[in-house]
This record gives sequence, C-alpha cells and structure tokens, in this order.
Amino acid sequence: MTNQPQLILGIETSCDETGVALYGDKGLLADALYSQIEMHAEYGGVVPELASRDHVRKLIPLIEQCVTKAHVTREDLTGIAYTTGPGLIGALFAGVSVARSLAYALNIPSIGVHHMEGHLLAPMLENNPPSFPFVALLVSGGHTQLIKVGQVGEYELLGESLDDAAGEAFDKTAKLLKLGYPGGPALAACAEKGNPKRFNFPRPMTNRPGLDFSFSGLKTFALTTSQQNTLDEQTCADIARAFEEAVAETLAIKCKRALMQTGLSTLVVAGGVSANKRLRSTLNQMGKETGAEIFYPRHEFCTDNGAMIAFAGYQRLLAGEHDALHIKARPRWPLSELNLPQKK
Ligand code: KG4
Ligand code: ZN
Repeated sequence: MTNQPQLILGIETSCDETGVALYGDKGLLADALYSQIEMHAEYGGVVPELASRDHVRKLIPLIEQCVTKAHVTREDLTGIAYTTGPGLIGALFAGVSVARSLAYALNIPSIGVHHMEGHLLAPMLENNPPSFPFVALLVSGGHTQLIKVGQVGEYELLGESLDDAAGEAFDKTAKLLKLGYPGGPALAACAEKGNPKRFNFPRPMTNRPGLDFSFSGLKTFALTTSQQNTLDEQTCADIARAFEEAVAETLAIKCKRALMQTGLSTLVVAGGVSANKRLRSTLNQMGKETGAEIFYPRHEFCTDNGAMIAFAGYQRLLAGEHDALHIKARPRWPLSELNLPQKK
C-alpha cells in the first residue's frame, strides 16, 4: 500500500474501441473514446488487423486530449494501467506497447488489467457505488459469467455460458435478421416495435439446477422462426422482441438463483449487454420482488472504455501490484487466475 497521491492513466484497446481515461484520488478526471464501429460496419464485424492499426493511430491523440481536459501534464502521472487481455492479440498489443513505453519513459509503474475486471468494477465509478460482497453478472460480446465478488481481486466463478456469450447471441441474431453491426443496439431498437405475444422463445437451461448458460440455441430458434415466416419488417421486430425477452428473462432467473445460492442481496450488472433497457427493466423487476439492490454502470461505461481500466489499475497499483519487466498480452485469460493474495 502507498500513501502517495495517485494519478493513473488507463488504456483500453482489446477490441474495436480505443478508450483512454485519467483516474486519481479525486475520482475520474477525464475520459475519451474513439469507436471504430463505422470502419468495421462495412465488413459486418470487427476486422482485427484494421482494429490494431486504428488503435495505433488514435492512442496518442486521445491521451493528449485527456491530459489537456484534466489540466495535468504527463509528468503528473503516477502509474499506467492497460488492458492485457482477453481480447484481440494485435489490438491488445497496440495498448500494451504504448502503455509500457510511456511508463518506462516516465519512470513510473504500469499494471496490466483484466478486461472483465474492468467491466466488473465499472459501477464503482458512480456516486452511489455497490459495497462488497456482491454477485456480478458480466454480459459482454465475449463473456457471460456470474461471479461472486468478495472484494477487488477476490472472484469466484459461479456459472458461465457453455457456448455463445449473450452479446454474441445478440450480434449473430441481428446478423441473420439483417439488422447490421453492432447487433445488440440494432436488435434492441428493432425489438421496440415487436409484438411480445407472437413468438415464444425458450429460456435455455432454466428448468435444471445450476448457474451456467447456453445461448446458441436461441440464435438457432430465431433462424428457424425466420425461415418459417415471411421475414417482413413486423416479423423481424416480433422475432427480435421474443429473442430479447428470452435473453433478459433467462439472465434474470439465473441472477435470482445466484443471489439465493450465495445469500447475497447486491447484484452488479456490467459489460456491453448491461446497456440493454429490457434487460435492466426485467432485472429491476426481479430486484423489486426479491429485495435485491441492483447496480449498473452509466450507459457509456457499459461498453468498452478507458475509465474502467484506469479504475481497476488504480485499485491494483494502490494494493502494491505492478508489472514485471517482461511484456505480456493475453488473448485468453480466465478471471479466476486473478485473485490477489487475501489479507488475513
Ligand atoms: O463489453 P463490450 O463493449 O465488449 C466486449 O467486452 O465484448 O460488449 C459488446 C457487446 C456486443 O455484443 C454488443 O452487441 C452488445 O455488447 N451490446 C448490446 C447493447 N449494447 C451493446 N446488447 C444488447 N443491447 C444493447 N443495448
Ligand atoms: Zn468489453
């Protein structure tokens, strides 16, 4: 533990968003984001090589932007946090290289952060943060996990998706409904006009015990339904609505089960899919029925951003952690390998 004032630069480049932020003892001082969505939209998904090159182009200007916005200088930085993984290897390396080089040049420590730990802690950037312990539902494009969180660095995996992540299922279903990329927000918008009574999708793996998920069947169900009907605008909206409700309700059933199993009454929901309004209203309803308190990040911190990485890095640097000399980027990285040595 250190008592020195801290000002941490956070860098996120694991996929298609370049995120930079400054987090210090006074909280979040600045954040800047460049989304590559337009560039990848033409291809219907993320093109890894294009993503890496664009991170290289945008990182330094975004860092400059944050430093200016916060009225600090680079020399005021006391540490640099960056996403080490999981993610696209080339994209990760763009962030790793800039972060490590800058830390070396400024002679300050750096810390590699787990992308999902960033998501998990994002609700703590809000004014009314959740208190430990809590259950976290992480729902992103690559992960759907339920985690028991004792404190920062104390994570127990309770359940996860055995196939597609929830976000991936949104993206694939949006693609088959020809709604474009990124699929989640597009499908959610289309579902607004849908009739919830027309199609009834299954709630996968809810009628057996356990906290694992399976979402690939829902995508297939959407495909079969679309083939059995004329795919006009209304049918498309009806399928989107039924799919969205099935995902939201399945997640809510498993969250309720996780809260009961752990005896906890605080739920944190984070990752790109936590921006989904229907998921939020379904979970809030469950919260009302069970008395559970539910926390989300603000809308712009649901998807990838630099603030969550700066915050996670701040916590870890404060706990005395920092990088060794070798440089690592980890495209695959289980969250369970992350546990900090626990205080006795
Ligand atoms: O957390 P994130 O930005 O990146 C990963 O770590 O994967 O999550 C991106 C995922 C995508 O699958 C995207 O379609 C989904 O989050 N997403 C949404 C919404 N906004 C983003 N899914 C449903 N509804 C939304 N409003
Ligand atoms: Zn993410």
